[in-house]
Amino acid sequence: MKVIKTISKLQKAAFKHLKNGDEIGLVPTMGALHQGHESLILKSKKNDDVTIVSIFVNPLQFGPNEDYLKYPRPIKKDLQFCKKNHVDYVFMPTVNEMFPNSHKTFVEVRDLQDIMCGKFRPAHFRGVATVVAKLLNISYACNTYFGMKDFQQLKIIEQMVRDLNFKTKIVSCPIVREKSGLAISSRNTYLSPQEKEMASKIHKILKKASIDFKNKNLSALKQTALNKLNKIPKIKIDYVDIVNFKDLSFADKNTKKVILAVAVWLGKTRLIDNIIMTR
Ligand code: PAJ
Repeated sequence: MKVIKTISKLQKAAFKHLKNGDEIGLVPTMGALHQGHESLILKSKKNDDVTIVSIFVNPLQFGPNEDYLKYPRPIKKDLQFCKKNHVDYVFMPTVNEMFPNSHKTFVEVRDLQDIMCGKFRPAHFRGVATVVAKLLNISYACNTYFGMKDFQQLKIIEQMVRDLNFKTKIVSCPIVREKSGLAISSRNTYLSPQEKEMASKIHKILKKASIDFKNKNLSALKQTALNKLNKIPKIKIDYVDIVNFKDLSFADKNTKKVILAVAVWLGKTRLIDNIIMTR
């Protein structure tokens, strides 16, 4: 496994693979790697000749009062984790390498970036789209892996790749959960044991809604989920939304496949989760 810190070195190595006809897989992450990330890595290991994992806590996607400085950075552990999973390259650039002061270009995916999480994290998806665009150009990825846990992010990246004609294929991967149902996240380490127990109720509420999907109208379904979530002690709900699975557009009773997505705060930790519902 090679650890690469500069853009030029990764581009050089990746281009060599490309010329050899190797299929390159990219798994973009912010580190603090867990089983959710592992599922993406394993999928790439299965599909691709070369697997690149990027570890970069991207300052562009954090708001001024968010957890950029506090975000976990267990570098040694992450490298061991990648080695154990037979990753070929770990790309770990510095902030200055990715975004020197001279950087002036940003990618915005209009409309999709402004709804759901975008309402509460105004510049977040602009930061995500910009860093992912750069990572695609640096890695020459044929396949790029994203988790459905960050469903809005996945849809935004799919749109960006279509609009800007990136050559990569976006591979979406199902949400990996703890036994309790809690979606695994690097931010779960912020939760106290008590908060963790509360957080596990989120998935149960979403699951119940998905069972009721066939019999209830969407606004009743949303209201019931909202009421149940509100009963969790110390919770603060950012949003509960039901949108079209395909493109996050408005969903109604005729929409066959929808996504029920939530973002909540438990104490100082922001958690997101979602569930697919089909008729
Ligand atoms: P990060 O939160 O580290 O997540 C990296 C990838 O792992 C994302 O595609 C995310 O959806 C996926 N992932 C995280 N938890 C998961 C889980 N429990 N099950 C399945 N997949 C999971 O998302 C980011 O980083 C950043 O925004 C990034 C795309 C790297 C851009 O900076």
